[in-house]
Amino acid sequence: MLKYITLFIFLILSSFTLCQKVRYDDYSLFKILPKNPSDFKVLEELQQNDLRYDFWTSPRAAVDFVSVMAGPKEKDELKNFLSSHGINYEIPVSNIQEAIDKESVKNYTGRSSSTMSWNSYYGLTDIYVWIDDLASLYPNIVSVIIGGETYEGRDIKGLRISHGSGRKGIFIESGIHAREWITVATTCYIINQLLTSNDTEIQQIARDYDWYIFPVTNPDGYLHTFTRDRMWRKNRRPINANAYGVDLNRNWNNNWLMHGASLNPSTQTYAGPGPFSEVESRTLSTYIEELGNRIELYLSFHSFSQLLLIPFGNTTEPLANYNDAVNIGRRAMGALSARYGTMYTTGNIAEAIYLATGGSVDWVKEVIKVPLVYCYEFRDKGQYGFNLPADQILPNSEETMDSIVELIFQARRFGYLV
Ligand SMILES: *[C@@H]1O[C@H](CO)[C@@H](O)[C@H](O)[C@H]1NC(C)=O
Ligand SMILES: *[C@@H]1O[C@H](CO)[C@@H](O)[C@H](O)[C@H]1NC(C)=O
Ligand SMILES: *[C@@H]1O[C@H](CO)[C@@H](O)[C@H](O)[C@H]1NC(C)=O
Ligand SMILES: [Zn+2]
Repeated sequence: MLKYITLFIFLILSSFTLCQKVRYDDYSLFKILPKNPSDFKVLEELQQNDLRYDFWTSPRAAVDFVSVMAGPKEKDELKNFLSSHGINYEIPVSNIQEAIDKESVKNYTGRSSSTMSWNSYYGLTDIYVWIDDLASLYPNIVSVIIGGETYEGRDIKGLRISHGSGRKGIFIESGIHAREWITVATTCYIINQLLTSNDTEIQQIARDYDWYIFPVTNPDGYLHTFTRDRMWRKNRRPINANAYGVDLNRNWNNNWLMHGASLNPSTQTYAGPGPFSEVESRTLSTYIEELGNRIELYLSFHSFSQLLLIPFGNTTEPLANYNDAVNIGRRAMGALSARYGTMYTTGNIAEAIYLATGGSVDWVKEVIKVPLVYCYEFRDKGQYGFNLPADQILPNSEETMDSIVELIFQARRFGYLV
């Protein structure tokens, strides 16, 4: 009897703790400023050997900072470690929980009373209802598309904007890393612009192409960042007693596990037990495969660091049409900087980030042979990181839209998308 009572109490307690949100009281965001290759090496080793730190960005040659979140118990240790190696750092956010509490989250109340606004973040259900509303509001142009499914049984829902058949396709994949909220918000803004903008250039690109847009390609993870853990990155498949989730952007079947990924389920970059082991990446890749050569431009949205990345992640060699892609990309980033002065660096994944493989863009480039493939890393440069304040949603979205207009214009000059 006592055994059962104990069990009962245990169940109550554990369900109580399970329902709690993960809190980040006194967790700090470090912006570490390595100066030379040996500093980078020290940080790389720290990332590999000490899983207590959450590296929000990885040590990478082309970027002059590394963002790391450290808990209250580890903060002083990290400070001492950096000082002992003579590595400079700043602490732009001293209490992550405060940044989370300040985040503006709104509920979409439906098209009858209000539309989506661009000064707040929205949860998964809101975005899915909004997509359905758009399909009924623009029945001749918008259709709901299902790009795949998730471990917890949800659809990967997106929409297609098409003003007629036979157009070349542009694909936008966003929110594959759950905590990168700005990618989801910006994608919704782009959808809205393509449907409602009065700008003739935007109206033209909306009309001239078939747009396949998925604001949230990791729905279980994204939902989890609202309900339980704001800092969740991976999908939500249980792996073992202590670990959940696979990094969906290390799980694609191109040079899987070769670089920048891990076989340890407790890491943020766990690549899964094998390529396409995860239902999300597997079903989405099947969907992309079915579209095949109808896709001429593929955009993948991530945050943060202000980078425009070009395949491949396994080598700094200029493969395929790398030179065209860089030329087009640099001009697009020029347009991106015009409005607010936001500066992006353009380069291939390996040179701009670090060797990292198993991501969607390499697979799309290698297997589907999509002519132009880019990965954006949006704002900022380590000031807020994933907790980008909601008042930056609009500027980030506007400058991204500017860059896409220019990217398409330049691509056409180079003979693509025509
Ligand atoms: C949004 O809706 C959820 C339930 O769906 C509710 O818990 C939450 O309080 C609402 N938030 C706002 C800002 O109205
Ligand atoms: C486009 O113009 C119409 C009419 O002038 C206006 O109501 C609407 O808000 C404008 N749309 C955008 C996205 O600015
Ligand atoms: C990098 O990956 C691409 C695409 O899979 C492949 O064609 C190329 O040979 C690889 N290069 C190296 C150095 O591994
Ligand atoms: Zn990401």
